[in-house]
Amino acid sequence: MTRVLIVHFSRTGATRRVAAALATTLHADVEEIIDRSDRSGMLGILRCVLDSVMRRSALIEPMRHDLTAYQMVVIGTPVWAGRVSAPVRAWLATYRHRLPRVAFFCTLAGRDGESALKELCELAAKQPVAHCAITQKNASPGEESRALNLFTQRIERKLAHIEEVEWSA
Ligand SMILES: Cc1cc2nc3c(=O)[nH]c(=O)nc-3n(C[C@H](O)[C@H](O)[C@H](O)COP(=O)(O)O)c2cc1C
Repeated sequence: MTRVLIVHFSRTGATRRVAAALATTLHADVEEIIDRSDRSGMLGILRCVLDSVMRRSALIEPMRHDLTAYQMVVIGTPVWAGRVSAPVRAWLATYRHRLPRVAFFCTLAGRDGESALKELCELAAKQPVAHCAITQKNASPGEESRALNLFTQRIERKLAHIEEVEWSA
């Protein structure tokens, strides 16, 4: 079976919740990026904003999974000030050279999902097989699950194609 890894960072749980739902649907493993900075409280939020505006990286723990074991990596980030979160930026700077095919998602309150997704492409130096912005607030009922369904369907189609090619090789 084609192996998928979901890599994500989450400060308050929204991105983690989406990563867990994707992992169930795609039968994927999950790697949560562990950030060494304290991002709690107002000072923590200020640190997040400054990191984003200045495009700073973060100190993160080494990853636990072996990237070479996967055919697809799905990367998820919260949107911070219209950008990719600093821990995901740090993760991509460290591991982008070892990435197989990728898909991207971000979670956000409602603004600048597209710019964060574009930045993910730049940081990974790769075009994704699928991408998706999941709005947490003001989303109409069912909007999140519709967006996630479309996202997972695109990934599943690509995985089916990879398996077909490998079987015929
Ligand atoms: C520092 C900071 C900056 C944020 N900037 C944006 C933003 O530019 N646009 C937006 O829609 N949401 C923004 N948000 C909201 C988060 O992207 C949103 O709540 C996200 O789902 C949180 O994910 P998490 O719970 O996995 O940390 C920001 C949140 C924080 C803490």
